Amino acid sequence: MPILTRRNLLKASAVAGAYGVGLSIAGKFAGSAAAAEPRVMKTAKIEANLADGGATRDVLTYGEAGMPPVVRMKKGEAFAARLINGIDDPTTIHWHGIRLPNNMDGVPFLTQPYVYTGDHFDYAFTPPDAGTFWYHPHCNTLEQMGHGMTGVIVVEDPKDPVFDSEVVLNLRDWRLGNDGQFIAQFRPRDAAKSGTYGTIRTANWQQQPQYDAPSGGLVRLRVAITDVTRIFSFRVDGAEATVIAIDGNPVPQRFPLDVLQLGPGQRLELAVRMPDAEGAVVKLEDIKGTNPKVLATLRAVGATLKRDVRDLASLEANPVQKADLGSATHIPLILSATAENTAVNSICGSLGYSFWAINKVPWPGDTPDPTAPLAELKLGKSYVIDMENVTPHSHPIHLHGMSFTVLSSSTREVQPFVSDTYLIQPDEKVQLAFVADNPGDWLLHCHIIEHQKTGMTSYVRVA
Ligand code: C2O
Ligand code: CU
Repeated sequence: MPILTRRNLLKASAVAGAYGVGLSIAGKFAGSAAAAEPRVMKTAKIEANLADGGATRDVLTYGEAGMPPVVRMKKGEAFAARLINGIDDPTTIHWHGIRLPNNMDGVPFLTQPYVYTGDHFDYAFTPPDAGTFWYHPHCNTLEQMGHGMTGVIVVEDPKDPVFDSEVVLNLRDWRLGNDGQFIAQFRPRDAAKSGTYGTIRTANWQQQPQYDAPSGGLVRLRVAITDVTRIFSFRVDGAEATVIAIDGNPVPQRFPLDVLQLGPGQRLELAVRMPDAEGAVVKLEDIKGTNPKVLATLRAVGATLKRDVRDLASLEANPVQKADLGSATHIPLILSATAENTAVNSICGSLGYSFWAINKVPWPGDTPDPTAPLAELKLGKSYVIDMENVTPHSHPIHLHGMSFTVLSSSTREVQPFVSDTYLIQPDEKVQLAFVADNPGDWLLHCHIIEHQKTGMTSYVRVA
């Protein structure tokens, strides 16, 4: 197997053009030259009020205070940001779900160099798709994301239907002790299972915040699961809620929300029809068995607008190329546990264990050991990933740089939909089709960060 060490990666990248620049500029996802004034995104260590009983220290964010801002972009319009690193750790920004040139993808060693303390990196791209996305570092991620560095992106489409209000929810937990301070981010025995859970749940860094929305109005509710571990079973209690988009892409056919499982990395967009009665409260919940946990509430205010979700125009589909199933090459992908428990270093920061594997290989990443791409794909050709989960846990598997269509599952009926993160259940087999239309090296990994960091990572090369 070819060797992918840090040094070799740098060498390979140099050959391909500095971090894929040579490859990507020609690609169809290249940013426009007339990029906007860059938005400054400076990482910082702050204190924040997350739990009762005082400020939590060592919280990490983008900006000066509080939650990383919701970053708004416009479909088809150039976006630019300057990451300035104000924390003690090297970092990068990955724009989860956005199809962009490889050198803008924010994966240290694979697509760009580390951004060290005090240094900066300029990102520029044009989002081709509208929807709800998010951003986070791709470096020492358990620590950096666990301590706060997860923000939501809204890509607006001027052709979007008009809602009466919009609520954006960044859902995540924090691992805090009784004194409100961070405790160890993970326990190895949990990393080998479903991952280590936080102790405090928040929506937009608050416990059970309430948002006002017009009575009888239609709310565009955008939910992003940015936690490092928790899979949510999301439901709305007290209002009619219609699923309009999943993972940044409109669903082909809207449907009423019952309960939807969403793993780390996933997003959900709902049209929530507020109750007519002023003061009525709608609960947004995570329900496990019969035990609902309220995450946030919406309160109806003002005279009823008497809106009807059936009058709401549909969202326009994103311009994702359809795979040609007749000519597609199949890529088998088996998610399993590892027998041996050797320490592996993941790209950018190690947890010191290996519990998981993709096609039997636990990702050694930043070590002298070999890791070849999972598959070498031909630019412009269609592929189907035949993914099988032989572990007793669920895994939200995320592909960078390209969106796929979920074609079929062995365990449930699916109406094909476009996504970038598929939550595969134990013993499930699923088919994900896509066109390899974006050149470069693209990560494919579990978004339960402890799984990602202990072997469940790989990448595909498109050239
Ligand atoms: Cu949310 Cu590798 O990404
Ligand atoms: Cu996993």
